Amino acid sequence: MGAAPGTDGREGGYHVPVMLREAVEALAVRPDGVYVDCTFGGGGHSRAILERLGPEGRLVAFDQDEDARRNLPDDARLIFVQENFRHVGRFLRVHGLIPVDGVLADLGVSSHQFDEGSRGFSIRADAPLDMRMDRRTAADWLRDRSEAELQDILGRYGEVPNARTLAAAIVAARRLSPIEGVRDLLQVLEPLSKGNPHRYRAQVFQALRMAVNDETGALEELLSQMPGLIRRGGRLVVITFHSLEDRIVKRFMRGGSAGDDKVDVLYGTRPEAPFEPLYRKPLEATEGETRMNPRSRSARLRAAVRT
Ligand SMILES: C[S@@+](CC[C@H](N)C(=O)[O-])C[C@H]1O[C@@H](n2cnc3c(N)ncnc32)[C@H](O)[C@@H]1O
Repeated sequence: MGAAPGTDGREGGYHVPVMLREAVEALAVRPDGVYVDCTFGGGGHSRAILERLGPEGRLVAFDQDEDARRNLPDDARLIFVQENFRHVGRFLRVHGLIPVDGVLADLGVSSHQFDEGSRGFSIRADAPLDMRMDRRTAADWLRDRSEAELQDILGRYGEVPNARTLAAAIVAARRLSPIEGVRDLLQVLEPLSKGNPHRYRAQVFQALRMAVNDETGALEELLSQMPGLIRRGGRLVVITFHSLEDRIVKRFMRGGSAGDDKVDVLYGTRPEAPFEPLYRKPLEATEGETRMNPRSRSARLRAAVRT
């Protein structure tokens, strides 16, 4: 479960990077290497990578949110791409940058995105129910989902205990008037809240955000490109904030497939795994870090070497 919207990792800045030391250590940056930061955000991880790169090193940083641009350092070794990271392979190919030495993805949203009340990610400010990191609004999304789809995403992404009842309530409410603002949705949730009301709202908002941005779809697409992009001995480091994403990353690093493991129908064998996990269990943030930055509490870092 990710941290609750609007309560995490800010300290007034754009975003406090999570598990910075662990992530950069796991990448084992070579001064002349080519690296990819799939989720630039406030640029904390990118800056730490740049500090370890020599003049010949290169860093390609992706972020689909144009706000991230304001954090770009003036550094000729950095190429910024304002795109979804699912297009990473195409971009690297066009620029002749394959194979790369390491890829980092620090998934989810930045504290800045929660803080910008007008973007509709946070339960603390009324605003249009937007939540796009990119194009499609959460209000559009809510308008044309079937009751069954709503139930599925509330249960799967938000682990909402009464997903079925809430899905039915959303469908009934939108028949009367469109759910367009954060407050409109909160009004539908209020009478159905289970357990801690803040946590309940946060679970629903997280589910909606992950669905609107097809976050697990983008992750699976990203991972499936990694064997063709990272050189042998190169590193892949992924920080997740949701158990579903962690499971996708674990399965990929162990077996080479983000979905179900593929077994050869004739021989019953599995294709050779393109990555070897660096750690048996995912790393978690230290106690010191979780005290300073509550958002890091749900972070799980997995790393693997390209075999
Ligand atoms: C947790 S923040 C990253 C913070 C960053 N590591 C730092 O040190 O500041 C995640 C960032 O990734 C971006 N993002 C999430 N999913 C993305 C995707 N599929 N493609 C491109 N950017 C994405 C978000 O817009 C957000 O800025």
